Formats: sequence, C-alpha cells, structure tokens
Amino acid sequence: MSYRYVGILLNAAMYRGVPRRKTGQESLSNYEEAAAEFGLIPVFIHIGDIHIRKGRTAAYIYQNHQYEQVSMPIPDVIHNRAIFQNNAAHPTIRVLISRGVEVFNVNNRYGKDVIHRLLSADPFLRDSLPDTAVFSYPALRRFMEIHHDLILKPCRGTVGRGIIRLRHDKSGWRITYPSSMRRPACIQHKLRRGELPPYVQQYLHRFPYLIQERIPLAESKGRSFDFRVTVQRGMTGEWAVTGMFAKKSPPGMFVSNLAGGGKACPVPELLAEVMPSSQTSVVIAQVEHLALTIASYLSMKLPLLADLGLDIGVTQDGRIYFIECNGRDQRYGFKKAGMGDIWKATYREPMAFAWHLHNRRE
Ligand SMILES: Nc1ncnc2c1ncn2[C@@H]1O[C@H](COP(=O)(O)OP(=O)(O)O)[C@@H](O)[C@H]1O
Ligand SMILES: [Mg+2]
Repeated sequence: MSYRYVGILLNAAMYRGVPRRKTGQESLSNYEEAAAEFGLIPVFIHIGDIHIRKGRTAAYIYQNHQYEQVSMPIPDVIHNRAIFQNNAAHPTIRVLISRGVEVFNVNNRYGKDVIHRLLSADPFLRDSLPDTAVFSYPALRRFMEIHHDLILKPCRGTVGRGIIRLRHDKSGWRITYPSSMRRPACIQHKLRRGELPPYVQQYLHRFPYLIQERIPLAESKGRSFDFRVTVQRGMTGEWAVTGMFAKKSPPGMFVSNLAGGGKACPVPELLAEVMPSSQTSVVIAQVEHLALTIASYLSMKLPLLADLGLDIGVTQDGRIYFIECNGRDQRYGFKKAGMGDIWKATYREPMAFAWHLHNRRE
C-alpha cells in the first residue's frame, strides 16, 4: 500500500522547533490527529530543504515516538503555513506548482491594499468595506474633512503593529500611536498645528500605509471588539465557516489583536451584552455570509486558497464591516476563547481539503 502524505510547509524557525515540539502556537498533534482521520501522514517541511531538481525534500515525520528527519519525495499536496520574508522562496513555489504539486494557501500574506482593491471591485462587498485609501498627505487631508475617526495601518502590518488612530473631538484632532513599531504601548496627544508628530511621519515615509475610516465598533464595558472568522475549504472543496470568536481590545486601546493584549471570547455572549437577543443570531448569520462571500470571491482572484482568518467588525446598531484578511490564521484564539473543539476543527478542515486534493488527482 502506498502512503498519502501531506506536507505542512513551515517557516525556518518553527521547522527547527519540530523535534522538540517547540512550534509556538502551531499544534503538531492537531495535524497528526486530523490527518490520520483522512488516512494522511503529515510531514513537516521547510522551503530551504526542498530540492527541486532531485524532486526530494528533508522532512520531519513522526515515527518511533519522536519526530525524525528523513529525506523523501516532495509530497503531492502541501498546506502552506509559512510567510516568506525573502523573495527566493517564490520561484521554488512557482516551480513546484508548475510540476503539479498542489500548494494551498500559496501566499499567506497579501498587502492590505491589494485585498482592499480586489474586494472593492465587487458592488456587494464594497458596502461592507470601510472608506479606505492608500496613504498620502492629500488623501489624509481629504479623509480628515469627511471623517472624524481614522485608522492608519501598514499595508503589510500584522498583529496590530504600527497602527495609528486620529480622532476628532471637541478640542480638535488627537493622535494615538505606538511608542515603537514592536510594542503595543501607546502615546496619545493633541495634533499640534494639525501636523503629525515627526516620529509618525517617519513611519509613514518608511512603510506603505492605508488610511481608513475607523468603524465605530460595538463595545463591551468600554472595550471595542471585532471577530475572527475562520473560513476554510474541507473535504468537499467548498468554503465553509469553521468558527468565529470575538477579540476584545484591552481597556483604553483600539486594536484587539491577541498578541497585543486583546481577549478572545465566544461571540454569542458578547453580542448579547450589546444588542437584543433577537438581533444576535441575525448578526452572526450576516457575519458568516460576508465571510463566505469574501472567501469565495478572493479564491476566484488569487491562486489556490483554502484557509482564511477574516477580521470582521460590527457596530452597535448591527452594521457589519470587513477589516482584514489573514492567510495564516492564528488558530489558537479558539483555544483561548475556551472553544477547543473549533480549535481542533481549524486543523481538521485543511487536512480534509488535502484529502480532497489527493482524491481529485487520482
Ligand atoms: N477601520 C477600522 N475600524 C475599527 N477598528 C479597526 C479598523 N482597522 C483596524 N482596526 C482594529 O485594529 C485591529 C488590527 O487591525 P488589522 O487591520 O486587523 O491589522 P493587523 O494585520 O495588524 O491585525 C483590528 O482587529 C481592529 O480591532
Ligand atoms: Mg488583524
């Protein structure tokens, strides 16, 4: 009998951690369990070890009660969980695909500007997008004339880093910005003579940014929240919502990322705090519908996608907005929210999709 493998493509640091099971938030045993359900064997691989000419790769495989490194043929189906910092990886991936290897979630980090541009081309989706522009000083002036609350965020940002807020109140415009690109701690003050602080101007000069109207997100006890909606393709190949949890911003903050101190919690309880119970199930259904529409739309426009983590916000009066789309979804939020079954399901669905791809090939 021949075995069916599924490659799990990791970044270098995580790959090195496999034998010691030091893979951060990525659960190796969840992959093992889920893959076994579909008769698959997961092998953990790294782009630098793939030898295109020989058609082989080094891989960690669980055998003899431990992860052992072996040399093996490149698996036919690969679930990409890596974000490639250097461009050298992309040609390797392109050649793999051209030789018939199915790499799903080929690219895990599209710019926020790219995703916004794609989504805004669709009339239904456009209504669910915050007013957005690529940062420039004229665009900022225009946004300051028509909105009273703005978010400036790096096009290639992650985990809430580098996000700036500009808010107009009785005393004029106030700015809140991180004290460093790496830390969530914030500095807040009035804009002097309507000008951005030199430190912020440097950011905006060094990195491409988006300007976005700030959605007045629903709040629970003064803490704004949005949702992480995990949308994946499973054994039928169709998109489905695997689950969602809410992310509550730390008190006094405006970004809800868990890595920046946000708190994960189940959606229904939190929504019930802010709206009548008759409305909560309607909102949940609308959030799911938006997430599914976005996922199937993006998968028509981008190469083989099967796993997305969408940030979706809701206002107090139940309006729903897309905030962001993540290719490498941080699944551990479900665990933190006490939703262990869904956390496992977020690993199961990609393995089910790998099974689907294997069957399709055969
Ligand atoms: N337009 C917006 N309106 C309200 N809140 C926002 C907006 N954009 C971002 N945020 C807040 O900041 C968080 C991080 O922004 P996001 O776009 O998801 O970038 P990142 O890639 O850093 O997670 C969001 O989860 C949300 O809490
Ligand atoms: Mg986000």
